[in-house]
Amino acid sequence: MDLRFTEVQEMMRKMVQDFAQKEIAPNIEKMEQGEFPKEILKKMGELGLMGIPIPVEYGGSGMDFTSYIIAIQELSKVSATIGVILSVHTSVGTNPILYFGTEAQKQKYVQKLAAGEYLGAFCLTEPSSGSDAVSLKSKAVLDGEHYVINGSKVFITNGGEADVYIVFAKTNPAAEAKGITAFIVEKGTPGLVIGKDEHKMGLHGSRTVQLTFEDMRVPKENRLGEEGEGFKIAMANLDVGRIGIAAQALGIAEAAYEAAVQYAQARQQFGLPIATHQGVGFKLADMATNIEAAKLLIYQAADLRVKGLNAGKEAAMAKLFASKTAVEVTTEAIQVFGGYGYTKDYPVERYFRDAKVTEIYEGTSEIQRMVISKRL
Ligand code: CAA
Repeated sequence: MDLRFTEVQEMMRKMVQDFAQKEIAPNIEKMEQGEFPKEILKKMGELGLMGIPIPVEYGGSGMDFTSYIIAIQELSKVSATIGVILSVHTSVGTNPILYFGTEAQKQKYVQKLAAGEYLGAFCLTEPSSGSDAVSLKSKAVLDGEHYVINGSKVFITNGGEADVYIVFAKTNPAAEAKGITAFIVEKGTPGLVIGKDEHKMGLHGSRTVQLTFEDMRVPKENRLGEEGEGFKIAMANLDVGRIGIAAQALGIAEAAYEAAVQYAQARQQFGLPIATHQGVGFKLADMATNIEAAKLLIYQAADLRVKGLNAGKEAAMAKLFASKTAVEVTTEAIQVFGGYGYTKDYPVERYFRDAKVTEIYEGTSEIQRMVISKRL
C-alpha cells in the first residue's frame, strides 16, 4: 500500500496549478459575469487537458485516471466552473464513446473530443425525470436509416457550447430501463433546439441549458451500443463521473479552507490572531480532517478504477462525503471571515455558491446513499 502520488502525477499537479494561476485566475471575474471560458478550454486542449485519461491512439494524453482526478481537483480549487466543464466533457461526454462506441465512432468523435477540438455533453435528465432516470420520456423511433427523436432535456451542462451530445431516449418504452438507447448527436443536427439558459446560484461561467428534440433525425450509425443498452451506458459512466465531481468538491473545499486559514492567521481580535481562539481553531481542525478523509475516499475510488476494478460504490461514497465536506467547509469558511465573508470582496462566498450543486448533480446525495446501500 502506497498512499503517495507518483512523480508523473505530481508533475501533472504542478502543471495544472501553474496553468490555473496563469490562465484561469485572471479570468474568474469574467466567468462570474457569465462568460463561457472558450479561450481557456482552447489552451487546455493544446496542453492535452481535455483528454487526460484517453489513450494516445484516440487523441488523448494517455495518462492514468488518477492524474485526471488530480487535474480536476487542482482546476476546481481555482475555478469550479472549469472543473465541471472538464469533468462532464471527459467522464460522461467522451468516455461513453470510448467504452461503448464502434471503432468508426471512436475515430470520428473521440479523437476530436480528446484533443479539445470538440466539447462533449451528456443528456439524461428531463423535466419530469431527475433522480428517477429510468422514467425519461424522450422517444426514438427507427425510420429507415435514421432514428427520429422527440423529447426534451434539462440542466444540460456544456449545452449550447458542445459539439457532441450523448442523448438518451426510449426505443422501447414498455421495457423500462432496458428500453433506453444512447445516441451520439452532433451540434447543428436539424431538430436539436437549444433552449433557455438556467440562471444558477453558482458556476456562473458554465452553461446549463434546456434542449428540445423536434423530429431530430440521427443516423443509425450514431446509435451508441445496442438498442436497450443506454441505461447501462449512462450508469456505468456516471460511476466514473461521480469521482470527478467528488474531486471538484474537494478542490472547492480546499480553496475555502486555505483562504480561511490565511485569514484566521492574519485577522486579530481580542489582541490575538483569531486562529488561536479555540472556537476558530477547532473549525479549521474539522475542515482539515474532513478534507483529508474526502481525499482518501476519492483517490481510493480513482485507484480502483486505474486497476480496472468496479468502483461504483466507492465513487458514490467519495461523492457523498466530498460534496458534504465542500458545503460544510465553505459555510464555515464564511463564518471564519465573518462579515467580510458575506461580501464579494473575498472569494469564499463564490466557493459557497459553487459547492452546493455538488450535492445535487450526477446524482443527489440521497441517490448516492441508494447506490451505496444497494451494494452493501
Ligand atoms: N452500471 C451498470 N449497470 C447498472 C448500474 C451501473 N452502475 N446501475 C444500474 N445498472 C443496471 C442494473 O443492473 C439494472 O439492470 P438489470 O435489471 O439487468 O440488473 C438496470 O440498470 C436498472 O437498474 P436499477 O433497478 O438499479 O434502476 P433504478 O431505477 O433503481 O435506478 C438509480 C437506479 C441509481 C437511482 C439511477 O436512476 C440513478 O443513478 N439516478 C440518478 C441520475 C443521475 O445521476 N443523474 C445525473 C445526470 S448527469 C449530470 O448531472 C451531469 C452534470 O450536469 C454535472
